[in-house]
Amino acid sequence: RQAEPKYRIGFSQCTGNDDWRRNMLTEMKRELFYHPEMKLLYKDAESSSPRQVAQIRELLKEKIDILLVSPNEATPLAPVIAEVYAKGIPVIILDRKAATDSFTAYIGGDNRNIGKLAAEYIAAQLHGKGRVIEVTGLRGSSPTVERHEGFRAALAKYPGLQLTATLEGSWVADKTKEAAARNDAAIRQANIIFAQNDVMAYAMYKYCRDKGIPNIRIIGVDASPYPDAGIDLVFRGVLSASLLYPSGGKEAISMAANILAGKKPARNTLLQTVLIDSTNVKLMRLQIDKIQVQHQEIEQQQSLLQEQRRLYQDQQHLLRIVATS
Ligand code: FRU
Repeated sequence: RQAEPKYRIGFSQCTGNDDWRRNMLTEMKRELFYHPEMKLLYKDAESSSPRQVAQIRELLKEKIDILLVSPNEATPLAPVIAEVYAKGIPVIILDRKAATDSFTAYIGGDNRNIGKLAAEYIAAQLHGKGRVIEVTGLRGSSPTVERHEGFRAALAKYPGLQLTATLEGSWVADKTKEAAARNDAAIRQANIIFAQNDVMAYAMYKYCRDKGIPNIRIIGVDASPYPDAGIDLVFRGVLSASLLYPSGGKEAISMAANILAGKKPARNTLLQTVLIDSTNVKLMRLQIDKIQVQHQEIEQQQSLLQEQRRLYQDQQHLLRIVATS
């Protein structure tokens, strides 16, 4: 018989409404197939820190055994995370950090390295000379700060590269468009734009296209595997490059399972990045397609297996009726 879920995994997501986080949830659900002992309780804070705090409190009331959390902003989320941890509930922080040491483990991409690789790519593209614009994420979320620091430090090694403007796009398209309109003059002078995610990179592309601003190269971060998301945009030549930011969804679920089984996890798990541009995007697409086919097959097999189990149980039931009549 299929095991009843024994553990409740609370997952507090800062926002659910973008490709990168859709991919994270898909990866989690795939991994959960292998853990029938765990049930996921999912809450989406829709980019609001106060809402996320309230939702973590709701998860506590629902008696979770472990908390997974990707904090919208580092400071406002810190006290409630510390509170959960102080109750003896393990906490795994994902992607965005919280301003507290009270957590069990952190899993996320190497955001400083992402910034550094972006700067080095730009230096190579512009042969060390030109005007650069950065578009950042939400000011209070940790990848914004780390990507910016990594980017600035690496850019400083090239005296011919000038950072002429830093726009705050807050991770989303409409804020990016507004910031672009306020910085129109700087954009017209720029050679290249580094946007801290692909959503903002695509918004910058559309801004330049609509305003008739030619010849600006744009690079982003995430490289999510959906139409109109990073890999597709690099493939179509809309973006020059995107830095892969692994979601950590699979790792989070398997770490949660290990913690609940009494194992001690690594305190920090840094997931590696890779730069995707026209030289390797085809290969990436092929690999993604292959993985997707494999996952579909696994899902089909899983549902066949469930069907078989049901049939078996029905037969057992019938046999019992026959035997007792
Ligand atoms: C998705 C997102 C990604 C970005 C990450 C940073 O919500 O904005 O695009 O890489 O969050 O935390």
